[in-house]
Amino acid sequence: MRIELQGVRHVYAPGTSFAVEALKGVSLSVEPGEVLGVIGGTGSGKSTLVQHLNLLLVPTAGRVLVDGKDALSLDRSELRRRVGLVFQSPEQALFAPTVEEDVAFAPQRLGLGEEEVRERVGETLELLGAGHLAARSPFALSGGEKRRVAIAGVLAMGPEVLVLDEPTAGLDPHARSDLIYLVGRLKASGMTVVFVSHDLDEVAEVADGVCVLEGGEVRSIGHPAEVFYGDPSMAPATVRVAAALGVSRPSLGTPVRYGETLAALRRVLGAAP
Ligand SMILES: Nc1ncnc2c1ncn2[C@@H]1O[C@H](COP(=O)(O)OP(=O)(O)OP(=O)(O)O)[C@@H](O)[C@H]1O
Ligand SMILES: [Mg+2]
Repeated sequence: MRIELQGVRHVYAPGTSFAVEALKGVSLSVEPGEVLGVIGGTGSGKSTLVQHLNLLLVPTAGRVLVDGKDALSLDRSELRRRVGLVFQSPEQALFAPTVEEDVAFAPQRLGLGEEEVRERVGETLELLGAGHLAARSPFALSGGEKRRVAIAGVLAMGPEVLVLDEPTAGLDPHARSDLIYLVGRLKASGMTVVFVSHDLDEVAEVADGVCVLEGGEVRSIGHPAEVFYGDPSMAPATVRVAAALGVSRPSLGTPVRYGETLAALRRVLGAAP
């Protein structure tokens, strides 16, 4: 599925003295099978932006196109199944007495049989490394466990596009790298992922494309190397290391991921007298 935003503006509480123009004409596309990283400071419009991808928020002006069709013309609940959105701090929305029932909620509403729902719930919890939590109360879990259960609840709907709004915020380093690894596996299985994060290093590791928001506008967008080398203030540690080594040397290229930067560093050390 390809999602395109064309000149999307969003005003909260329009026409009142509390009106906030959170998006000021954002255009971008999410290509099928890619991982798009969305970065930007607090209040830059990231959460507002991603809620337009499945029309949870409707643009004040501009359009959202899904495979070339105006998303407003599509069935809203079908669109929300195909574009699964995991909110910022999704653990706040857990509600059922057990983890299993919580994750089963959305697939049940899709009208699937009991057996198929049970299978999907089991598979999804396993994928998130949360199979052992199935019978527990979601309220008696740690923050990281709750996060995994909340993501499982969205994945169990079988979305084509998964949108994660700051999924790693507040997690320990191990849980963070588990999540980044999961994003990689979902991508390998053909899923499209939109990933909002404050952490440039984790975006660098997993994204095929990067969008930088600032004050409700796209500050830069493109291939990670293009964005990070073009905008040193938004560069992850790997790119800063590479820049310090002198990336203008053609032999170094423009490494972004950790492994690429390490390889460049090895070339430099190997070439040193
Ligand atoms: N429900 C709302 N009503 C009014 N204004 C809102 C609402 N939600 C967000 N805003 C405002 O819109 C702007 C963008 O907010 P948004 O939540 O999209 O930012 P963000 O980039 O996700 O920030 P963060 O990194 O803190 O999550 C901010 O100025 C915010 O105060
Ligand atoms: Mg946000």
